[in-house]
Amino acid sequence: MGKLIDLISRLKENRYLEPEEFVTLLNGLEENPEDASFLQHEARETALHHFGKDIYIRGLIEFTNFCRNDCFYCGIRKSNLNAVRYHLSKSTILECCRIGYDLGFRTFVLQGGEDMSYTDHAMTDIIASIRRAYPDCAITLSVGEREKATYQEWFDAGANRYLLRHETADPEHYRKLHPMRLRSEHRMQCLRDLKSIGYQTGTGFMVGSPFQTTEHLAKDLQFIHKFEPEMIGIGPFLPHSETPFKNCAPGSMQRTLHLISILRLMRPNALIPSTTALGTIHPEGRELGILAGANVVMPNLSPLDVRKNYLLYDNKICTGEEAAESIDKLKERICRIGYRIVTDRGDYKKGDV
Ligand code: 5AD
Repeated sequence: MGKLIDLISRLKENRYLEPEEFVTLLNGLEENPEDASFLQHEARETALHHFGKDIYIRGLIEFTNFCRNDCFYCGIRKSNLNAVRYHLSKSTILECCRIGYDLGFRTFVLQGGEDMSYTDHAMTDIIASIRRAYPDCAITLSVGEREKATYQEWFDAGANRYLLRHETADPEHYRKLHPMRLRSEHRMQCLRDLKSIGYQTGTGFMVGSPFQTTEHLAKDLQFIHKFEPEMIGIGPFLPHSETPFKNCAPGSMQRTLHLISILRLMRPNALIPSTTALGTIHPEGRELGILAGANVVMPNLSPLDVRKNYLLYDNKICTGEEAAESIDKLKERICRIGYRIVTDRGDYKKGDV
């Protein structure tokens, strides 16, 4: 048996490889498309076994692009004075949910920069209002690092899930992507706090971020193995013209797809989105992500007039067939590759694996 095939089979069996083996696998896949096809096939079969042909949808509400942070890769970093800033009122957020509910969404994702003008209590009030209006829906938060007591308050108000990418599991690499104030250790502590409170917790990283090596990716996989997140979001790094990384090369789509497949074999039950960044780097990126083992898509539910301002990277798609209002087109596209979009909360199910 070929070396890579052997690694892939062992990954499927044990749901883990040693970091050196992940490095061998990731590098080998770049040069061996047949092995990459085998990996993809195994990942797709695994997703089919657990989820059938069902693809879950999440309505993404990008409710603020104000941010106190200055991450070197991100287009809404504090230092980008050219970003047109906005934040949505509670009533606008609720209106987004109403539109989303009618379109068949049963999960709302409130995503934003670290905008402290939404105090703990203001967020609690928004969460509680959504919870009251939509008792059958899941509420996912993605608003960065806060105190454990705050996470607890929001959970008690009705939030169910939290997305907080660890970005990179290597502290030195982390420092090359973020200002000093931000610490990898603190972010990981937030992740542990979220999980201990009872959130379904999502983490993840960018593929091909500046200074990233294959060894760093192996560490990311090792971290995910240990942390056991319910959700895992990854996408290629894409440069933004108003950031220090404006001249850096984008991440590789192929490598992103390889990693989705690896993550599916590691975490058969996990909710893995085919991300907007993947849809941006390639016109069929979203479909390719699903065919690599992803089982979630997150169409944009933000009001049309603010979408163009939530730019984490250049050319971010936001009004095409991936947008929530074009759900029928999205359904068609997903159907064409043999899958179906379902109206379902799409919670993490522990179950046997
Ligand atoms: N390219 C790709 N992904 C990015 N993100 C932020 N900036 C970029 C970029 N330039 C990702 C980060 C963050 C998530 C919301 O978006 O991983 O956690």
